[in-house]
Amino acid sequence: MPREQLINRASEIKVIPTLDSIVNRVFTVLGNNNSSFNDLSEVVKYDQAISSKIISIANSAYYSRGIEIFNLQRAMLTIGFEEVRSIVSCILLMEGVIKMLKLKEEDLLDLWKHSVEVASAARVLAERLCIEDPQKAYTASLLHDIGKIVFYLAVPNYGEILKETKGTGDVIALERERFGIDHQETGYIIAVKWKFPHDFARVIRGHHGDHNPDHQDSLLRVVNASDRFFTRTLSSQSTEAFILDKEKSAITLEVEKIMEFLQLS
Ligand SMILES: [Fe+2]
Ligand SMILES: [Fe+2]
Repeated sequence: MPREQLINRASEIKVIPTLDSIVNRVFTVLGNNNSSFNDLSEVVKYDQAISSKIISIANSAYYSRGIEIFNLQRAMLTIGFEEVRSIVSCILLMEGVIKMLKLKEEDLLDLWKHSVEVASAARVLAERLCIEDPQKAYTASLLHDIGKIVFYLAVPNYGEILKETKGTGDVIALERERFGIDHQETGYIIAVKWKFPHDFARVIRGHHGDHNPDHQDSLLRVVNASDRFFTRTLSSQSTEAFILDKEKSAITLEVEKIMEFLQLS
C-alpha cells in the first residue's frame, strides 16, 4: 500500500469507526426520551470516533465564528443538544457501513484503550505540572492516534505490525519504511480536512517527536510523555515518568471503570 493511496484514504474518510458496545450504549441513551445532555456526553467523551466529529463540527465556520473550541462539553453546548443527537445518529448509521470495511473489533479496542489511557495520563500531567488545560490535554490525547485508523482500514495486517513494534517505539520508522508515510501524517490530513483546532492538528502531526520534544510546547509535551509512558519509551529519569509512575494504578483503575461503564470488559 503506497503513500499515495494512504493519503487518498485519509482525505476521503468521513467517519471514524467505533466499538459495537459504544454504539449500543449511545443508541440506548438516544432512545430514552428522559436522557439528558450529560448522559450523552458521559458516553461520547470517551470515544474518539464521536468526539472527533463533534469537535470538527463545532469548529466549522457555521458554529465557531472564529473561536477555536477544544473542550468537548463546550463543543456540544455550542452545537446544541438536538443537533448533537441527530449528528450522533447519523454517525451511528454510517458506522454500520464503515464496519463492513473489515475492521476488527479487537484492533479497535486496542486503539480505543490506548487513546483513553494516554488521555487520562495527559490530564494528570497537565494538572500536576500546571502547564496546560487538563480538558484540552484530554481531548487532544483522545485524538492523537486518529491517523492509525487509515492504516487499519487500508493495511489488513496493521494490527500485527503494531504488535511487532511494541516496546521499541519505532512504529513511525517502520510505517515510513513500509508505506512511505506514517500515522502522524495521515492523522494530520484528517485534522486539516475536518477542521480540528490548530493545536490538536499540531499534536497529531508531531506527537512522536524525536527524543527531545519541544519543551516550549506544553500540549505536545504532555501528550508525547503520556504516549511514551504507555509504549514504555519514556525515560524513567524524567519528571513526567516520576508523576505517572505514582499515578499509574489510579489511571489503570479509571480506564477499567470506563470500560465497565461502556460494557467493554
Ligand atoms: Fe502515535
Ligand atoms: Fe499513541
